[in-house]
Amino acid sequence: MRMYDIIHKKRQGGELTHEEIAWLVKSVTGGSVPDYQVSALLMAIFFRGMTPEETVDLTWEMARSGDMADLSPIPGVKVDKHSTGGVGDKTSLIVGPIAAACGVKIAKMSGRGLGHTGGTVDKLESIPGLHMDVPRERFYEIVNKTGIALVGQSGSLCPADKKLYALRDVTNTVDSLPLIAASIMSKKLAAGADAILLDVKLGSGAFMKTLPEAVELAELMVDTGNRAGRRTAAMITDMDMPLGRCIGNALEVREAVEILRGDGDSRLTELSLELAAGMITLAGLAPDNSSALAKARETVASGSAFKTLCDMVSAQGGDASCLEDTSKLPLSPWELTVSAPESGYITALDAETCGLAAMELGAGRESKDDEIDYGAGIALLANKGAAVESGQPIAKLYAQSEAQCAQAKERFLCAITIEKERPDVQPLIIKRIGI
Ligand code: URA
Repeated sequence: MRMYDIIHKKRQGGELTHEEIAWLVKSVTGGSVPDYQVSALLMAIFFRGMTPEETVDLTWEMARSGDMADLSPIPGVKVDKHSTGGVGDKTSLIVGPIAAACGVKIAKMSGRGLGHTGGTVDKLESIPGLHMDVPRERFYEIVNKTGIALVGQSGSLCPADKKLYALRDVTNTVDSLPLIAASIMSKKLAAGADAILLDVKLGSGAFMKTLPEAVELAELMVDTGNRAGRRTAAMITDMDMPLGRCIGNALEVREAVEILRGDGDSRLTELSLELAAGMITLAGLAPDNSSALAKARETVASGSAFKTLCDMVSAQGGDASCLEDTSKLPLSPWELTVSAPESGYITALDAETCGLAAMELGAGRESKDDEIDYGAGIALLANKGAAVESGQPIAKLYAQSEAQCAQAKERFLCAITIEKERPDVQPLIIKRIGI
């Protein structure tokens, strides 16, 4: 087979065969085709697209390019959840323990944050002592004992995706729907769960900025997952404003604890319960969504979801007393209060800009080797839709220095729009696909 012919076929709008895709992924992983030819093919795919069959073939071959997790030593239905990334999105820390407390097995690999969006690995690593690099046998043991383990992605998961993503990044071909679907779903297939719930974020802080794009991506990923033999469903959820009240790693752990104790932001609580209910339903542990929701609520009310999080943290070497008393979690020493510049309603709180301000405070990384400050971030005192008076505190910023706080304050103020008319706030769950 020749790369030249594959590029030509796709450039002309042809459909690649399974053999061609398998050869391509093997050659990309092994480094036997030059980057300039792979880049040319990515651009041809960007313009010509891929059929559903090509997308599934690409997804499977990428999944098989590295280690495939074997979760068979864990009895029960294993359900994974994936968020396409957002600002203040700490739902994995909340939804995982709720679903696990209802009997779903959560054996989940998560990623680090990059750019304006956060990652579950960084959030959990802000808990003193907690390890995300858990050996395989111990990983099985923890899930079998506590119902849940959240660990970092192994370096050998989907090497083809690492190569292709790096080339997409520099050739401006990231936002091709079949390439995004194959990239996300290959990692989900390799991670080994029986069922997958996708939280596709829509809005200013998300990858997908319009509803038709988000629906197309969600439908494509659901179709790809189901064709690959994994029960897959999706919810399209709002990311036009930061999720919850905190942005930043340890701050988000605190907020997750508040929600699990039944005392947190109502939108974040509602989304977490809905996602947990989706996972319970996908696992076949409830006959319908409303009974799954009732089960999810009960685990919060009884404290069993919070206990599940504490058990998991202890099992992974973390100091669970920091969850009982969250003032023991890291908090950066400089604090700056931001006040409303005028009176009115907050009609916009741009999630992406808030994420960038949190990054300036030290809570995120610009490139993957940057160090992060676990105690840095933003605690929001008001969000979109709130009525505020001029001079009223609307956020607290935390960082290692006064200069970082001052710079981030300028950025944060650009995120906020205050007007006289009360705005409509989008419903949190915009669309459900397959659930
Ligand atoms: N996240 C991924 O893992 N891959 C993409 O292509 C886009 C978002």
